[in-house]
Amino acid sequence: MCGIFAYLNYNVNRERRHILQVLFNGLRRLEYRGYDSAGISIDDGDFSSFPRSSSDGSLSPPPLVFRQEGNIESLVKSVYQEVVATELNLEKSFTTHAGIAHTRWATHGEPAPRNSHPQTSGSGNDFLVVHNGVITNYEVLKETLVRHGFTFESETDTEVIPKLAKFVFDKANEEGDQTVTFSQVVLEVMRHLEGAYALIFKSRHYPNELIACKRGSPLLLGVKENDDVCNGSAFHDAKFLLQNSNPKELFLSSDANAIVEHTKKVLVIEDGEVVHLKEGTVSILKFNNDKGRNGGSRSARPASVQRALSTLEMEVEQINKGTYKHYMQKEIHEQPESLTTTLRGRLLRGGSWKAKTVLLGGLKDHLKTIRRSRRIVFIGCGTSYNAALAARPIMEELSGVPVTMEIASDLLDRQGLIYREDTVVFVSQSGETADTLLALEYALENGALCVGITNTVGSVIARNTHCGVHINAGCEIGVASTKAYTSQIAVMAMLALAIGADTISKQERREAIIDGLFDLPNKIREVLKLDQEMKDLAKLLIAEQSLLVFGRGYNYATALEGALKVKEVALMHSEGILAGEMKHGPLALVDENLPIVVIATRDACFSKQQSVIQQLRARKGRLIVMCSKGDAASVCPGGGCRVIEVPQVEDCLQPVVNIVPFQLLAYHLTVLRGYNVDQPRNLAKSVTTQ
Ligand code: UD1
Ligand code: BG6
Repeated sequence: MCGIFAYLNYNVNRERRHILQVLFNGLRRLEYRGYDSAGISIDDGDFSSFPRSSSDGSLSPPPLVFRQEGNIESLVKSVYQEVVATELNLEKSFTTHAGIAHTRWATHGEPAPRNSHPQTSGSGNDFLVVHNGVITNYEVLKETLVRHGFTFESETDTEVIPKLAKFVFDKANEEGDQTVTFSQVVLEVMRHLEGAYALIFKSRHYPNELIACKRGSPLLLGVKENDDVCNGSAFHDAKFLLQNSNPKELFLSSDANAIVEHTKKVLVIEDGEVVHLKEGTVSILKFNNDKGRNGGSRSARPASVQRALSTLEMEVEQINKGTYKHYMQKEIHEQPESLTTTLRGRLLRGGSWKAKTVLLGGLKDHLKTIRRSRRIVFIGCGTSYNAALAARPIMEELSGVPVTMEIASDLLDRQGLIYREDTVVFVSQSGETADTLLALEYALENGALCVGITNTVGSVIARNTHCGVHINAGCEIGVASTKAYTSQIAVMAMLALAIGADTISKQERREAIIDGLFDLPNKIREVLKLDQEMKDLAKLLIAEQSLLVFGRGYNYATALEGALKVKEVALMHSEGILAGEMKHGPLALVDENLPIVVIATRDACFSKQQSVIQQLRARKGRLIVMCSKGDAASVCPGGGCRVIEVPQVEDCLQPVVNIVPFQLLAYHLTVLRGYNVDQPRNLAKSVTTQ
């Protein structure tokens, strides 16, 4: 959903053309999150000749704001058209300059330039704001501001923020406080905001400064010290980097993807912090007793805090497509490698006398508590929910603890019961899905042990859970989750192994699963060879309206997730059905036209699935059967169905293998049908609003 980016060059000469390119590139890195409009703000003149000013008559010119609905390229085009029309000098060099940028996913008001960000305090652009999140009390604030003479031009919740900043600034000046600082203004604004947000402020009253603050939504600061302008001196002390006023480039973003190509040195901004970038230094003020995303009272005096930088553990290559046409295609094909990193260091084979076991560093101190829990509850949304569903049977089998499933929004809707004796596992690729976060707050309030399974180090879920496991699948950019799904299942299988590690009777079973995990990347390499076969199948299905997928047991989740992939990217109606429910409704749909995939790989449910196939064939169903290698004749005696043969693995790991042909099918169907693979219609990668 919404993405924010900012670029501040301090004492480093940068032409306007370069600044624009950095801002546009930042926006391109945020595209994958999903958006429908975009905007930027840069300076008109060189602000270094305009010291901070309020009433002394030397107020710097209003910053320029460009906003456009549609994709980034339409924004880029409109900016360059404007540049030509206004004869804006692209070669003009700025020694210091602060630019901000935003991709918007419409929540309050349709996609339109007036609703895009930066949102402004008014015609002079005194204060500009880019925002990720939702301000829940914006209506009340708006009414107050209207009473004070402000007029609103957008339908957004965001517009109250820059207007409130102007109100606070003007009031301070009217009261004779002409030394009010940018952070004081923003701290006062924050005091009035309720909801979840990450914000960046730019102001003509505080030229070349930026303020970033957040509550709930993610925000990172990237720090790059330019060796060329520092005469080659290297500064490694993180705190020094923040406090010195050497030439540097600073980047702010809601997403590490937009920062990693510039620097790996980052500060993960925390809730309640106000980060002030001014004259090359970064100062951080924090509200004490921050009550969290729903607002509430905070102590009146924010305190100054010292923070160290951390290093981003990702490579620039991860955010490029390499030789692939689409991110989704790349991410499907890199699953042998992503699974290898997920498993790395966590499977211990032991010596000849030592048992094979798993080691999940983040959980070892909590396993006893988990084993004693009354219930394990899996919570997630979309693909993450499906991954948890795939892992449920093995978790129940190995842990001996009952496992229940919750879609995060449904748990919240019913205020379902969560007890102190529960272990609640939050599964989320991004670690920032709004419903999952709210469910986490709810479970914490109810005293449960909260375990996170996420791909994003430093994400809210990773930080706010008591413990957890990073899936280490590498950055996933395609909106349709692929490699995160398989890594999530692998992690949850390891979780089950770790919880059940003290049950002697299941040692043989556990060792078989550990062997299966070791071999999983190879099996995925094998199943990826079905690429052409899936493309041929996609050609056959290209004009279909609908596709049903029947699965059960370990592969009920595969049916749901396979159907979800086809639905979300190929925009074809598709439904995953529990095969055991077939006679209770879905059978009515079966005829010789509707394509149906039946998952019938070898496990305890195999004979039941054979019977499902027979019943479907008796009704002339148009079948595509997924079976284990060598089983074609057993699943489809006499021929007549299309068969997809996949390598057989340990039953509980079979969903990891079985999903791959569906991912390939969905990908090829999407390309053949001419739809956008990486940013499917109306969908966002990170759903940060409810
Ligand atoms: C950690 C290091 C890894 C290092 C390894 C060496 C990190 C992020 N990982 O990996 O770089 O190679 O030790 O032993 O520094 N956590 C949560 N909630 C979540 C996810 C994780 O609380 O949703 C916590 C865990 O409980 C743990 C920490 O984050 O305390 C790191 O988790 P994870 O990366 O899975 O741990 P290791 O695999 O041990
Ligand atoms: C969105 C994504 O709907 O959120 C899905 O498009 C994803 O791919 C879902 O499964 C949940 O996201 P997360 O980050 O919590 O796993």
